[in-house]
Amino acid sequence: MSKKPYDDQDDRIQIPGRKTIDEVFDESTLKVLYRLMSQDVFEYMDYPISTGKEAKVFRGVTRGGDTVAIKIMRVNTSIFRDYRQYIEGDYRFKKVGRGRKLIFTWTRKEFSNLKRMHEGGLRVPRPITFAKNVIVMECLESQGNIAPMLKYLKLDTDEMQNIHDILVEYLYTLIREVKLVHGDLSEYNILMVEGEPYMIDVSQSVPLTHPLAQDLFERDVDNMVRYFSSNGVETTREFIIDKIRMDEMYEDD
Ligand SMILES: Nc1ncnc2c1ncn2[C@@H]1O[C@H](COP(=O)(O)OP(=O)(O)OP(=O)(O)O)[C@@H](O)[C@H]1O
Ligand SMILES: [Mg+2]
Repeated sequence: MSKKPYDDQDDRIQIPGRKTIDEVFDESTLKVLYRLMSQDVFEYMDYPISTGKEAKVFRGVTRGGDTVAIKIMRVNTSIFRDYRQYIEGDYRFKKVGRGRKLIFTWTRKEFSNLKRMHEGGLRVPRPITFAKNVIVMECLESQGNIAPMLKYLKLDTDEMQNIHDILVEYLYTLIREVKLVHGDLSEYNILMVEGEPYMIDVSQSVPLTHPLAQDLFERDVDNMVRYFSSNGVETTREFIIDKIRMDEMYEDD
């Protein structure tokens, strides 16, 4: 079995039917997971890859022995209320919903963003399926381990420059062809697979027509400039924006 990137040994999953399994495993989420297992999307979940405030991500294994990543959005959190603004104004999601429904919409949004990016040829995990608050996607791995975040890799300036240039190309494709803004781009949401950057965590991505698109885009670029400049790469906001040619950003969606 691959090495675990995080020391998450406490998150043991107990036998279903017994009381508490974990705070993400409420009854409805368990039912969703059983359904996915009975549909053969995966055979079992083995260990948590990441435990965050919004979501918990597990590694799962299919009957054929492939790995998948299972992202479970927490239903018992108030954090998602803040996300209403990312959904409202998105032409794809007319009904936002409240409480759990809002979280289900959020999940559906991440899945459709992922699908759109994947179909647009971008390096993102291949989306497999989703249901309620659960997304199943390709598990990104590198050298037999869960792919590390860009943030945790020690790379020299040339390698950093190369990754920067690749990401500028991704941004170009994302904006010009896929017509979405990532909205939470940072060294935490880039995983490195055998030297290639992959973008993850696309729930807050919005179409270019969304009222927040411009601000989110600028924030993504600023995050890139901050991270890469502090790692020896000469880059500026103007350079990146120029590459993407912002003047063409607001063509019809
Ligand atoms: N497809 C994947 N393959 C491998 N690891 C993944 C995958 N998706 C997510 N991860 C791991 O799980 C972590 C959390 O995923 P993600 O960034 O999508 O969630 P999040 O919305 O940031 O959750 P939170 O804010 O609650 O941490 C990632 O930083 C990454 O380490
Ligand atoms: Mg993240």
